Amino acid sequence: MKIAQAQGAPASAILGIGGYRPRRVVDNAEICQFIDSSDEWIQTRSGIRERRWASADETIQMMSVAASRKAIERAGLEPEQIDTVIVATVTHLYQTPAAAATVAAELGTKGAAAFDISAACAGFCYGTAMADSFIRTGTSKYVLVIGVERLSDFTDPRDRSTAFIFADGAGAAVIGPSEVPGLGPVVWGSDGDQAGLITQSQPWDVALAGEERHRPVLQMTGNPVFKWAAYTMAKAAAEAMDAAGIRPDELEVFVPHQANMRITDAMFRALKLPAEVIVGRDIARQGNTSAASVPLAIEALLESGEARSGQTCLIIGFGAGLVYAGQVITLP
Ligand code: UT7
Repeated sequence: MKIAQAQGAPASAILGIGGYRPRRVVDNAEICQFIDSSDEWIQTRSGIRERRWASADETIQMMSVAASRKAIERAGLEPEQIDTVIVATVTHLYQTPAAAATVAAELGTKGAAAFDISAACAGFCYGTAMADSFIRTGTSKYVLVIGVERLSDFTDPRDRSTAFIFADGAGAAVIGPSEVPGLGPVVWGSDGDQAGLITQSQPWDVALAGEERHRPVLQMTGNPVFKWAAYTMAKAAAEAMDAAGIRPDELEVFVPHQANMRITDAMFRALKLPAEVIVGRDIARQGNTSAASVPLAIEALLESGEARSGQTCLIIGFGAGLVYAGQVITLP
């Protein structure tokens, strides 16, 4: 028996991007109430001036739906046209059901396929790679990829190695069929030997069995992660450009995961990008929002007019795992 095969589109592209930034702005002075640090140290070492922390009503669900509505509208689509929803997050408080299923329902999709993925700060780029494959193989037509986090729920405000970094928010992209390729091949991978550099402090059962019974928090040994990100990730980003057939002098926009402004600058230098390339620097006002950081930084560049639709952009996400994924995209 011959099994029929789905036929996909020749290529895919990002059709619309939207973000949600929580209302509450937390400046470095507020962070320094709980850690021995200073506004000057935080700005110099990380580039962060302020970040957003979600209030009780700004849940993973609420932020995902808000970002997605903007992305769907900007793509010129109706929610019922979305047939697949992928949510990338490491901070959804429910292990099951997937956030993607309830987000798909609230948006008004017609029973879209829906699932969550856990790839930390690379989650949005992992989801984008999956969406591209789904569309080109005919598995899906319009895929909604959401990166969303409430990292403040998992941050110890008294831990000076993480308290100033992590933040909350959501970014979403609608990816659909295109005659002209708008997404290059993904370059991705993992290095589980370095898993201990960014971890959850304890598994849930141990945390809840302890005397204090508090939820676990994220812990990071920052400096080795910094070096891995600045050097190894620059190589992966160069491979993503090679895979897409884009030379550094042809690139127009660079949006790496918003982990640290100095990592962004080190990657920019290592990639030998021309000075006129526009760089995502959303970390200054948004902090590190893990899976949400790349789409939020893209939205910021488009909304400010610094970057524009049709430009060629390199994105790369990297983080806990350690995992990474990068690709060249055309901005929607
Ligand atoms: O999103 C997932 C991926 N994450 C990343 O890519 C994050 C990568 N790592 C980083 O961004 C940086 O490592 C940090 C911003 C976290 C830290 O910067 P660093 O330049 O690597 O600092 P360090 O850990 O090497 O510490 C340098 C000094 C130390 O003091 P001494 O030993 O030189 O006297 C630390 O004790 O800075 C001190 N320090 C602080 N001082 C003030 C560490 N944290 C703080 C702090 N405030 N919050």
